[in-house]
Amino acid sequence: MRLVIGSDHGGLELKSAVSQSLGDRGLEVVDLGTDNGESVDYPDFAVKVAQEVARGEADCGVLVCGTGIGMSIVANKFPGVRAALATDEFMARMAREHNNANILVLGGRVLSADLACRMVEAWLDATYEGGRHQRRLDKIAAVEEDVRAGRI
Ligand code: RB5
Repeated sequence: MRLVIGSDHGGLELKSAVSQSLGDRGLEVVDLGTDNGESVDYPDFAVKVAQEVARGEADCGVLVCGTGIGMSIVANKFPGVRAALATDEFMARMAREHNNANILVLGGRVLSADLACRMVEAWLDATYEGGRHQRRLDKIAAVEEDVRAGRI
C-alpha cells in the first residue's frame, strides 16, 4: 500500500512523528513535503497529496497543518477525495467505517504525537462498512458531478 503524507510548517513536527510510526509498521510512506520549518502555504502541499489520491497513484494520504482546517478545505476540492479532519480516535475510525475517507487530516497544533499516531492506526485498521453508507458516498459523487456540470 502506498500512503502519501504532506504538511506545511505548522504540521511538520507531527508529520515526522506519524511518518516514523507508519514506517515502523512496514508501510510505504512517501513524504511530499514540506521538509523544513520555513513558512509555506498549505494549499501547495494539500494539492500534492490530494492529486495523487484523486488519480489513484496513492491508496490514501495524510495531511497535517496547524489546525488541519486549511488542508481539509483544499483536499476536498478534488473529485473523489474524501478528506476527514479528525481530532480523536473515534472520529478517525468513523472516517473509515462510515465515510471511507481516503485522506486523514490532522492538526499539528491540536494533537499530541502519541494521539495522532493512534488515530492514524485506528483509521488504517478500520474497515469501510458499505451498505447505507455507500448510498451516501454515491450522493457525494453525484454532487461533485452536478457542480462540475453547472447543474447546481
Ligand atoms: C499556518 O500558520 C496555519 O494557518 C496553517 O498551518 C493551518 O492551520 C491552516 O489551516
